[in-house]
Amino acid sequence: MTQATDNATRRFPADFRWGAAVSAYQIEGAVAEDGRGESIWDRFSATPGKVVGGDSGAVACDSYHRYREDVRLMKELGLSAYRFSIAWPRILPEGRGRTNAAGLDFYDKQVDELLAAGIEPFVTLYHWDLPQALEDRGGWPVRETAEAFAEYVEVVAGRLGDRVRNWITQCEPWVVAWLGYGTGEHAPGRKSDADALAAAHHVLLSHGLAADVLRREAPESRLGITIDLVAFHPLTDSPEDLAALAREDGFRNRWILDPVLRGRYPDDMLERFAPMLPAIEDGDLQTISAPLDFLGVNYYTRSVVRSNGADGRPVTVTGDDVERTEMGWEVYPDGLYELLLRLRAEYDPPPLYVTENGAAFRDHRVNGSVHDPKRISYVDRHLDAIARAIEDGVPVHGYFLWSLLDNFEWSFGYSRRFGIVYVDYATLERVPKASYAWYRDFIASQR
Ligand code: FCB
Repeated sequence: MTQATDNATRRFPADFRWGAAVSAYQIEGAVAEDGRGESIWDRFSATPGKVVGGDSGAVACDSYHRYREDVRLMKELGLSAYRFSIAWPRILPEGRGRTNAAGLDFYDKQVDELLAAGIEPFVTLYHWDLPQALEDRGGWPVRETAEAFAEYVEVVAGRLGDRVRNWITQCEPWVVAWLGYGTGEHAPGRKSDADALAAAHHVLLSHGLAADVLRREAPESRLGITIDLVAFHPLTDSPEDLAALAREDGFRNRWILDPVLRGRYPDDMLERFAPMLPAIEDGDLQTISAPLDFLGVNYYTRSVVRSNGADGRPVTVTGDDVERTEMGWEVYPDGLYELLLRLRAEYDPPPLYVTENGAAFRDHRVNGSVHDPKRISYVDRHLDAIARAIEDGVPVHGYFLWSLLDNFEWSFGYSRRFGIVYVDYATLERVPKASYAWYRDFIASQR
């Protein structure tokens, strides 16, 4: 079951990007340094009961000070690309208006360090750390936040656009909207379906506005957005279960894919959400569906759904005997293959990157080393799924393993380790795991 497949049998295209991914709040620390403003995750993690163990990103992996060491690790790994995010509150501490030069300098140096190491930066402009000042004015449920995002992107592109060639506007709009404003599991922790829908619309709008800015400010660069997709399967083929499946897929996948790639919200969902839809202005969907150079797909797991009988609402079924990660997520590599094929068949997408994929397991240091065969098997089988999709004609151009480092896993704090490099949070020492050596050898075998 956890057997690795034979690397030698799989060849990826010669220019395939071998990457790893991280995000600012999860690794940087230094939250009060060099003029950084407060973010919603600082506020949320300081609120009792929100994050496991009362953890926060205050120190995290201290990559703000140790990025050179991290880049060395990436270089030894043989990475061709690194996906990291920019902390908006470092650039504009109040969200709008005043620019903080020290924040820009930090990313400027990091980009140069990466380029000197031969690693292509893939910059995510928003990975969930909204300036608290903007949340205080309404956050993503208000339109102003999308406009503020475009201003922030203009500042960043003006500084880094001469060297950064790959931009990801937003990361996982569904999660930003629903976990942040619907269920409240993530910052800012609000709980209203109407707010979540408004947030989703403005996050997508902000993507479109930013696309316009990037085309102007960094015309040589490629731009995309990262979407998290879940592979859904019905428990049975009954009409009720199939209807539940369509509903869950519409909520979780199509509500984001359709506006971005087709310029319209799906009709069945528009009907369902009708009573609580936000104001969608003329031209918004055109802005949201601006042409993309690539689409980022994050994939972790699948979900089996059935109808609850009464009103056809979907229920997630959790099988007992399936292989799971420490997050409780089922390991299901075929789901990635299915989604990639579906994207090609239904959406005629631009080039695709798998911008996140990886697994948390309970890792321990034994005599100085960390043996993580389950992570190796997870990554290996998902790469196999990608290779099969490419063989079947899907244009996948790169893979970003989540994550380079163990880091702050949002509401789970430091209790979930996703890294191929172990981080000793007491000393901040980095210890490459067995999966790091495996990935290094895998990348080398493709050269
Ligand atoms: C994704 C997030 C990323 C990380 C992984 C495990 O949803 O984008 O920051 O937390 O999950």
